[in-house]
Amino acid sequence: MGNREMEVKRIPYESTWNIRHEVMWPGQVIDYVKLPNDKNGSHFGLFVNDKLVSIVSAFISGEEAQFRKFATVKEEQGKGYGSKLLTYLMKELTTDRIERIWCNARVDKTGFYERFGMKKTDRSFSKGGIDYIIMERIA
Ligand SMILES: CC(C)(COP(=O)(O)OP(=O)(O)OC[C@H]1O[C@@H](n2cnc3c(N)ncnc32)[C@H](O)[C@@H]1OP(=O)(O)O)[C@@H](O)C(=O)NCCC(=O)NCCS
Repeated sequence: MGNREMEVKRIPYESTWNIRHEVMWPGQVIDYVKLPNDKNGSHFGLFVNDKLVSIVSAFISGEEAQFRKFATVKEEQGKGYGSKLLTYLMKELTTDRIERIWCNARVDKTGFYERFGMKKTDRSFSKGGIDYIIMERIA
């Protein structure tokens, strides 16, 4: 019990792999969640009492920023941690250089992202049995 100390900070890309794997793709081997350009990304983690509970990764290409692999460990979901982390990320990405923030959103998460100013585009696809819609926020 007691206060739950919360902190968001940058993390090394290797620190994202376990949560990506167990939360997003538990049926795949761990290599499935390692991205070829992880080294070029900015990775953020939300810690509660020094334990990593929520992660997200951002990749900047020219004037566009894509965020990917957003996940909160199962037993900590629905407590506002993901929202805290995404709010932090959106602030980080709100710079003069970034004109568009986008993501491939799992269809069941579009309402969540709409709260952060993301809008659905008309582009969608399926991968690994999951349906996605591309969402974006124009600066
Ligand atoms: C998407 C995900 C990262 C969100 O993380 P989270 O830490 O659960 O996020 P939050 O707790 O901020 O918000 C989750 C829900 O709890 C609600 N919530 C937020 N704060 C809350 C609080 N203090 N108390 C109760 N509920 C709260 C939110 O309104 C949200 O509701 P919704 O599901 O209807 O949108 C998490 O669900 C997850 O890891 N899912 C599996 C992987 C995944 O789908 N990733 C996204 C791919 S696009």
